[in-house]
Amino acid sequence: MTNIARFEEELKHFDWSIARHELGYKEGQPLNIGWYCTDRICQTGRAKKLAMIWENHAGEVRRFTFDDMRVLTNTFAAHLRGLGVQPGDRVCVFMDRVPELYIGFLAVLKLGAIVQPLFSAFGDESLLTRLESSGAKVVLTQHKHGLKVRKIRDQLPALETSVIIDAGDRKLADGEVGFDLDNAPKVNDFESYPTTPETPSVLHYTSGTTGQPKGALHVHNSVFSQYLTASWVLDLQESDVYWCTADPGWVTGTSYGIIGPWANGTTQAILDAGFSADRWYGFIAKHKITVWYSAPTAIRLLMKEGEEAPKRHELSSLRHLASVGEPLNAEAVIWSQKVLGLPFHDTFWQTETGSIVITNMPGLPIKPGSMGKPFPGIVATVVDPKTFEPFDHPGAVGLIALRPGWPSMFRQYWNKPEIYASKFVNGWYLSGDRASIDADGYYWFVGRDDDVINTGGHLVGPFEIESALLEHPAVAESAAIGMPDPVNMEVPKAFIALKQGYEPNDDLELEIMNFCRKHLSPLAMPQAIEFVTSLPKNRSGKIMRRVLHAKEWGEEVGDISTLEDE
Ligand code: PRX
Repeated sequence: MTNIARFEEELKHFDWSIARHELGYKEGQPLNIGWYCTDRICQTGRAKKLAMIWENHAGEVRRFTFDDMRVLTNTFAAHLRGLGVQPGDRVCVFMDRVPELYIGFLAVLKLGAIVQPLFSAFGDESLLTRLESSGAKVVLTQHKHGLKVRKIRDQLPALETSVIIDAGDRKLADGEVGFDLDNAPKVNDFESYPTTPETPSVLHYTSGTTGQPKGALHVHNSVFSQYLTASWVLDLQESDVYWCTADPGWVTGTSYGIIGPWANGTTQAILDAGFSADRWYGFIAKHKITVWYSAPTAIRLLMKEGEEAPKRHELSSLRHLASVGEPLNAEAVIWSQKVLGLPFHDTFWQTETGSIVITNMPGLPIKPGSMGKPFPGIVATVVDPKTFEPFDHPGAVGLIALRPGWPSMFRQYWNKPEIYASKFVNGWYLSGDRASIDADGYYWFVGRDDDVINTGGHLVGPFEIESALLEHPAVAESAAIGMPDPVNMEVPKAFIALKQGYEPNDDLELEIMNFCRKHLSPLAMPQAIEFVTSLPKNRSGKIMRRVLHAKEWGEEVGDISTLEDE
C-alpha cells in the first residue's frame, strides 16, 4: 500500500478513543493535565527519564527528570493552595522561559485552577487589558516582570497576590510574596484536584480585528488531542529529544511545548535565550535534538544566514522537522531538504483549535507550499464565503471551516458569548482564514479573512495598536495594517490623520513612536507611520483597513461598494 493510501485508510477508522486508551483513561475518572504530564509518566516506569533539559543565554544547563517535575509541581501547587488559590481561580503565569514557568503552569492545573499564560515581553498596558479581562487572582512572575504588575495592580481589584520566584532579599510591595522553588521544602505527595474532561484548564488570549484580545478557554479534555497529535504529527518516540521553539505565552508553547510532549513522556529541550543561527544550531548539536518544531519566520532567518552556518555544527541527530504559525513557503521546505536533509512539515491550527488540525503528517507525501490534509478525526472543508456551504469543486478559494467536536476545541471566549457564537455558521466553526483544497484533498493557505496582522507567527490586533495611537494628543484617527516584510512576512504599519494644529514631521513621528513603545508590546510596535489627511471609510464611518492594505501590497482594491456597508 502506498503511504498516501495508508494515510487515507487511517482516516476512515479513526476514533479519538485511541488517545483515551493509550493514556489509560476510563470514562468517569478524573482527568487532570498536570497529573498526566508528571505523575502518570512516573507511574508508567519513566520516573528517572529526563523531562526537561533547560539552557539559558549564558549556556547554563539544568536537567529535570519526570520525578523532579512531579515533586516540584506538587511543591508549587501546595504553596499556591496555601495562598488561597481555589479550583476555577485564574492564575497568570508571566515569566521568561525559566523552569518555574513550566512547573508553575502544571502546578496551577494540578490545583484545578485556570492557567493564563502571558508573554513576558508584554508591557504594562498589554498586561492590564488581559489581566482585567481574566480577573486573575494570582500572578506568578519574576522580579523584573513583577515591576510591570506592580505598576498596574491598583487597577486590578481581583488581583490578590504576585508570587515572585526570584525575590531574593529584595523589598517586596504589598500583595507580593517571594517563593524560591529550589529551596522550598519539597512536597512529595499532593493529590491533584479531580478535574473532569470539561473542567477549564488554560486561558490563552488571542487578538481579533475588533476589540481587545479575547481569552480562548480550553478544558482538560484537550490533552487527548494534544497527546495524539504530538505523537502522530510530531512523531514523538520514546528516545526523542524534542525542541519546540515557541514561548508558552502563545498556544504552540503550551499545547506542544508543555502538554502534548509531556503527556507522551517526551524529553524536551528548552532554550531561554534570543535567536542567533549559531546559537540555535549549537543548541541542536549540544543536546542532540531529534525532533524540532519551529516557525517560518525562524526558518527564513536561518535561510538568510546561508548554507555555511549549519555546516559548522553537527546536526545529524535531527530526524523530523515541523513548522507552524504562518504560511510555510515552498522555498523554505526545499531549502531545509537541501541544507538539513529533511523537509519541514507544515501544521496549521489556532489558539481556538488547541491542537493541530491540518497538516503534512509523516507518511503523507509533501506538496511544498501546501499545509497538507486534515488530521484524522478532524472534519474540515472550505466554504463559500457567501453561502457558508462547502464548494463542490477543487481549487475554489473560501473560508476554512471545521466541524466542532474534537477534544481540544476551545469552549468559550472568556465573558464574550456573542463573539464566540459569531464564529459558528451552519454547524461549522469558521477559522477566519482563506484557503483552497486541490483535487488530491491538500489545503493551500491563501490569507486571513480579517484584518488581524500575523507578524512572525504572532497575531496582533489592529485595534490594540490604534487604541494606543489614539491616546496620543496629536492623533485624530488611525488605522493599523500589516506591511510586507521579508522575514516576518508582515509587520505593523500605522496610518495617522492628525488633529488640527499639528503638522506631520519627523519629530512628531519619532515622538509618536516613542509614545507607542511605552504602550505596546514590541511585536505590536508599528515599524512605519504614514501621515494622511483622512482615512478611507464606509458609509457608517468605519475605517476600511482593507483599502489601505490592498494599496500597501500593490493589490487590486476590489469592489469598494461591497465594503461600504460593512
Ligand atoms: O492565520 C492562521 C495562522 O495563524 C493563525 C492562528 O494564530 P494563533 O491563534 O496565534 O495560533 C498560532 C499557532 C497555532 C491562523 O488562523 N497560521 C497558523 N498556522 C498556519 C497559519 N497560516 C498559514 N499556515 C500555517 N501552517
